[in-house]
Amino acid sequence: MPSIHRAVPALRRLRLANTAFQQPAFVTLQAAARPAYQIRYQHAEAQQEAAPTTSASSADHAPQDQPDRPQSKIKPTAESYPNLKRDSRFKEVTAEDVKFFKELLGSESAIIDGVNQDASEDLEAFNADWMRKYRGQTKVVLKPESTEQVSKIMKYCNDNLLAVNPQGGNTGLVGGSVPVFDEIVINLGRMNKIHSFDEVSGILVADAGVILQQADDHAAKSGHIFPLDLGAKGSCQIGGNVATNAGGLRLIRYGSMHGNILGLEAVLPDGTIMDDLSKLRKNNTGYDLKQLFIGGEGTIGIITKISILCPQRSPAVNVAYFGLESYEKVQQAFREAKKQLSEILSAFELMDKQSQQLYHRATGNKLPLQNEHPFYCLIETSGSNTDHDSEKLNTFLEHVMGEEIVSDGVVAENETQVQNLWACREGISEAGQHFGGVYKYDLSIPLPQLYDLVNETRERFQNNGLMGDTEDFPVLDVIGYGHMGDSNLHLNIATRRYDKEVEKAIEPWVYEWVAKRNGSISAEHGLGLAKKEFIGYSRSETMIRLMKQIKGLYDPNGIMNPYKYI
Ligand code: FAD
Ligand code: MLT
Ligand code: ZN
Repeated sequence: MPSIHRAVPALRRLRLANTAFQQPAFVTLQAAARPAYQIRYQHAEAQQEAAPTTSASSADHAPQDQPDRPQSKIKPTAESYPNLKRDSRFKEVTAEDVKFFKELLGSESAIIDGVNQDASEDLEAFNADWMRKYRGQTKVVLKPESTEQVSKIMKYCNDNLLAVNPQGGNTGLVGGSVPVFDEIVINLGRMNKIHSFDEVSGILVADAGVILQQADDHAAKSGHIFPLDLGAKGSCQIGGNVATNAGGLRLIRYGSMHGNILGLEAVLPDGTIMDDLSKLRKNNTGYDLKQLFIGGEGTIGIITKISILCPQRSPAVNVAYFGLESYEKVQQAFREAKKQLSEILSAFELMDKQSQQLYHRATGNKLPLQNEHPFYCLIETSGSNTDHDSEKLNTFLEHVMGEEIVSDGVVAENETQVQNLWACREGISEAGQHFGGVYKYDLSIPLPQLYDLVNETRERFQNNGLMGDTEDFPVLDVIGYGHMGDSNLHLNIATRRYDKEVEKAIEPWVYEWVAKRNGSISAEHGLGLAKKEFIGYSRSETMIRLMKQIKGLYDPNGIMNPYKYI
């Protein structure tokens, strides 16, 4: 987290943060949330084989983590999706291939070799995804340390028809970051150098494997900020962020990767190095090919370096957390925030009561407000002038309280409280899957209808016998949260186990619902494997055909991240 100074010492707080909120237990929350991703992987070898499931549906998954029970092993994606067949054109990796890679990479730590030995324990972290829902069967992980090495790997794989799966921090939420069958994982983790930072322009040039948090820390040294922030920042890589066109928590303020990325270097499937590492803000010289790699999800090349514009870091940051009585009031609050906070508004996040209850249940942490409210919002302001920000925020708070738009709320008084308030929002992802598994739907929906989907989904599960308080029911709860400022809803079905009946109850209904309202079935997470079958709900046949032509042009052998959305 950036160093945050309280901007408004004399701010008339809506209500003092309650005593529980100030307890030290809260302080550790944020820090604990991140390393947990790795901890889960480290214990993968201790997992037990899951009981076989009875289903043969297109996506039936093995039971997942259960509280107070040993973790079960993740069912291979190839079994969960029996309709997916390994492409017989692809060669299986041999000892001879591994010898080539070892000589090329020249270091034991640069390769995990599951061909010449049993390396299943070491491979697990690269085969299994963050949600513990998808599991590939790779036998080889390559960790190059230079663009030239990536280029030679790709040329060899292309010449030999070896399929590959580019991988960053493996925090993706749509099953795109792990193989389906035996695709070679090319993990960018060792390409983690920051090459330059221009303190005048704010332009950062760095390897794709730099962890997002480290990129932001580097930018912070000279008073800049990486223009993307998300809950996985301690694990995800900036190359992965670009490949997924990640949106995150501050898109409302800094815009998307499509605008902030100035240039990139990528290796094409045949080994060609595409050097488009421009540092220019303006460059109208023909097609802007780098845009194809932003959000391309590793299907046409491997991003090896990026050049990105980092804005000035705001010295004055405030965070407020509100309780509201209806979604109508949430919309009113958003309108007022835009109107009154305008250029200093840097986040406007929505959380429903159920998402906060689940967060509380999963972490044991008390919530900031004593009374319960149907909705909560987190607002962040970032500005350069403390007095100016205070005045604006005060006026805004007086207005929303006076007009009874907001029922209750707290404003953070110090950095710890800022982080604790953010944890209530960022911690939902982890809480969503804490009790076993989660079905995630990341959707763009016009704001007036955004929350209708959560209500309708909840009703659906209340009536279909799949949701309840005991182990007999797969579904614990339906929760809604997301980036209100970007019309981006995260609809999550928190489950005790992955179960085909749950998936059938919601898909493709949810995508039809979104398509009818001209929304998008993927606002920011991408399509990966999870939404492969559903792209037609958001893209026309013409658009899909054009995408396939581009894929064919860049990757005629189809070796890049096969079986995924394209
Ligand atoms: P991975 O998960 O490793 O890969 C993701 C995809 O990109 C895969 O298809 C992979 O093949 C490809 N890829 C990775 N690196 C490269 C590369 N160098 N070249 C080419 N292709 C590559 N997403 C959001 O948009 N907003 C959020 O707020 C957000 N919050 C999250 C919070 C949590 C707790 C978690 C676990 C995930 C969250 N995500 C969010 C999802 C995820 O998209 C981001 O975490 C991140 O952008 C993925 O980066 P990664 O390095 O982990 O990529
Ligand atoms: C978020 O906004 O928290 C992320 O996109 C991750 C998630 O959907 O849980
Ligand atoms: Zn999100």
